[in-house]
This record gives sequence, C-alpha cells and structure tokens, in this order.
Amino acid sequence: MLKKTVWFASAIVGVLIVMYNYVGREPEPPIVNEPKIIAHRGANDRFNESTITAYEIAANDGADSLEIDLRMTEDQTLVAMHDENIDRTTNGLGEVSDYSLEELKEFQTVEVFGNERATERVPTLREIIETFTDSQHYYIETRLEDGELVMEEALIGLLNEYDLIAKELVTIQSFSQQSLEKVHELAPDIPLTLLYSKGNFDLSEAKSVDYPIIGIESSDVNMKNVNALHRQGKEVHVYFNDEATQKEEQERVKALHVDGFFTDDIEYTKELLDRK
Ligand code: G3P
Ligand code: CA
Repeated sequence: MLKKTVWFASAIVGVLIVMYNYVGREPEPPIVNEPKIIAHRGANDRFNESTITAYEIAANDGADSLEIDLRMTEDQTLVAMHDENIDRTTNGLGEVSDYSLEELKEFQTVEVFGNERATERVPTLREIIETFTDSQHYYIETRLEDGELVMEEALIGLLNEYDLIAKELVTIQSFSQQSLEKVHELAPDIPLTLLYSKGNFDLSEAKSVDYPIIGIESSDVNMKNVNALHRQGKEVHVYFNDEATQKEEQERVKALHVDGFFTDDIEYTKELLDRK
C-alpha cells in the first residue's frame, strides 16, 4: 500500500514538473521587442487584395512588412496572387499558370471586401518592388506548383537584382520545407518562416527545424506552443483564417507575446499593440 502511495505521489509530481516545464505559468517574453505588423495581402480591408494600391495603403499606415503571395504565369513571371486561379480576385476565370503575363494583365482585380474604388491589374512582383524599392520590408510566400520547385530561382534573382537581400529587407515564408530549403541554398542569409496550416501544427517538428520563425494559424496558438518555441529562440508569427473572430484572436495572442501578426486590419492591430 505504502509502495503504491509513493509511486502515485511520484507520478503526480512528475506530471506537475512536466506541466510546469511545458506550459509554464506565464507567457515567455517576446523574441522581438515590438511585435511586427505584417500587412496580409496589403491593406486588403480597404482595397483589392495583393494590388499595388493595397500595398501603398499598408505602407502609408506604417505596417512593418508587406505580405505577398506568389504565383507564376505560363511565361514564368512572378505575380502577386494568393489563389491558384484568378476566379475570386479578378473578373476572369482560370489558373494563373495557364496565362501569359500579357493575357493575365487583360483582367482587372475585383473588390472582395466591399470597397467601391476603381479596380487595377494584377501586379508582378517586379512592379511591387519597383514601387517600393528599399522603403519597405517584403514578407514573401513561396509554394510548390504541381509539386515542383518553380519560383525560387526567379525570386532570388529578382531580389538580388534590387539588392534587397543584402539590405535585410526580405523574409521568405512557405508551407513547403522543400521550397524553404531551396531558398536557403540560393540565399543562405534570408530569414525563413515555416508555415503550418490550420489544425496541422506540429510542435515537436517546429521546435526542431532549423528555421528562425514559425507561422501558425491563430486557433493553434496557445501558451504551451508559444512558450516552447520562444525557448528555442524562435519567433512566432500568427495568421488568421477566420475574419469573424480575428479581432478577439489578435487580442488573445497578444497576451501570449507572439512576435508577429499577419493582419487583415492594420489599424486595429496598431491600436491593439499600442494598448497597455
Ligand atoms: O502567410 C501567412 C498566411 O498568409 C498564410 O495563409 O493562405 O493567407 O497565404 P494564406
Ligand atoms: Ca500568404
């Protein structure tokens, strides 16, 4: 009986130690002093997402970084576009990769969040960089196309052409480790963010991979995950899939001391971070 009690007490103490180490009682301090405000697809709440105007509004708002999703046209030009096809964000239909740049430029982007301003064309990455040159930080997302590495060499070539890597004005993010590895091979100095899709966050893997930043959807962000990554010296950048809960989620993850917000409402995030 005594043996059983001792074993049980030891087990409880063990569990408490593990819980203390893993969960912690307090959020770990942020890795960066001020969390970064990353304009998700530009100021997409006030103009067509991923357009030059949306990025101009974000830059004027003082966002720390412009988030840009990449797709590649049939004739190998990198353009700012989130979706594989142009159906949702332009007045056209079909896959980006089936259009030459000239053909893609015939379409207009369309409003997706109720703005009433005139539309504009899908921008190339080069056009975005020529607009902002070294006045902004670019947070660029790569992806595989049909399982293939197609954009990394063109991307790094373009960034080097404008000297943006040497000036430390770029972070590359991807859900694909294969893509991040290729980027690292081509440009070892670029900070890399490994993204996890909603519901698929893997803490053990995220702790062990050799990337300095981990990008997590807000519903997978909790104190255990943030603290564990901070203890590994990694920044945690959070994105938000649910527009309806984004404000409350931003408030919640702020209290966990996350290091970056991929925000769809720059003004709100600025006000939130200014709050004591
Ligand atoms: O890059 C962070 C976030 O943008 C990832 O999700 O689908 O909006 O690109 P998504
Ligand atoms: Ca993205």
